Amino acid sequence: MSNFMQAAVLPEFGPAETFRIEKVPVPLPAAGEVLVKVRAVGLNPVDFKTRSGKGYASHFTLPAILGWDIAGEVVSVGEEVSRFVTGDRIFGMSRFPDAANAYAEYAVVNEEEFAIIPRNISFEEAAASALAGLTAWEALFDHAGITWGQRVLIQAAAGGVGHIAVQLAKWKRCFVAGTASAENQAFLQQLGADQPIDYKAQPFEEAVDNMDVVIDGMGGETALRSIDVLSPGGVLVSLPSMYKDDPAVIAKAREKNVRVKWMSVRPSGERIEQLALLLDNNRLKIYIDGTYPLEEVARAHKVLEGGHVKGKIVLTL
Ligand SMILES: NC(=O)c1ccc[n+]([C@@H]2O[C@H](COP(=O)([O-])OP(=O)(O)OC[C@H]3O[C@@H](n4cnc5c(N)ncnc54)[C@H](OP(=O)(O)O)[C@@H]3O)[C@@H](O)[C@H]2O)c1
Repeated sequence: MSNFMQAAVLPEFGPAETFRIEKVPVPLPAAGEVLVKVRAVGLNPVDFKTRSGKGYASHFTLPAILGWDIAGEVVSVGEEVSRFVTGDRIFGMSRFPDAANAYAEYAVVNEEEFAIIPRNISFEEAAASALAGLTAWEALFDHAGITWGQRVLIQAAAGGVGHIAVQLAKWKRCFVAGTASAENQAFLQQLGADQPIDYKAQPFEEAVDNMDVVIDGMGGETALRSIDVLSPGGVLVSLPSMYKDDPAVIAKAREKNVRVKWMSVRPSGERIEQLALLLDNNRLKIYIDGTYPLEEVARAHKVLEGGHVKGKIVLTL
């Protein structure tokens, strides 16, 4: 194996065209870490936000290698590694929100943030499930605390987090409504949504009320309007961090007696194992909208930035 590898390097923060495919040294695993031959990298909106100098750009030094969602094969292990051996297929969300250097042929990851990929699941599906799956899990179970039979509205239900959140809420036998454009109404039905809502055809407030939980993948105006469909005591979990602590949302939530929460997803190998179980027994399916070779990272970022990905897009190596 060469000591050098290809990587998509960001010499400075900027537009998608800023990426350069370069040769960089292969990293070495320290204690508790494993070296992974990266086979797929899941892309998330935080990737393009960070690329442009927003998101978690302050956690990176330039030149930077972006990306957090990794699926690949273990090629060597550091000292004290006990969970994986060479040849294992593993996946996880690495080091988020710190730099994880995922857009590269090899990456060093912490073993406790990763889990074995089920045999029937592809590298692409595994990589695509990590950050979005952890987010949907945390939002629904930790922050909203959903229980059997509750009424849940997922905003941006056809997207990365949304399409997983719909399936997890159905797994818990909730009544699930979800918003998407006309093109994605059938997709929401396929995912199991009880009430797909075409957000362009009618305001969602006219379609649902008395919700116990809203998971909001949009923020801003959508977060504010979401408060109107919640029952007193209900909870809004709003995901886009640029709207964190929006005073208008806080004031309206207080007035309507609903709770509002913002979150930042955390890496967890245990949670990844739980997602792996759901993937393994077909309770959770990941929809891949498109795959792009590493060299086409700029094109992939532009698609993601368009804001209308169905499910997930993935880089392949
Ligand atoms: N705080 C955290 O820890 C955390 C974690 C993960 C994600 N996030 C944030 O949460 C947001 C969603 O993430 P994601 O990965 O799910 O994004 P995504 O996959 O890029 O979302 C794309 C989806 O948004 C839908 N959409 C666009 N405009 C809409 C509207 N007005 N109403 C309803 N749906 C609309 C699109 O459906 P149509 O094409 O049908 O319009 C598309 O399927 C992002 O801002 C992301 O950064 C935060």
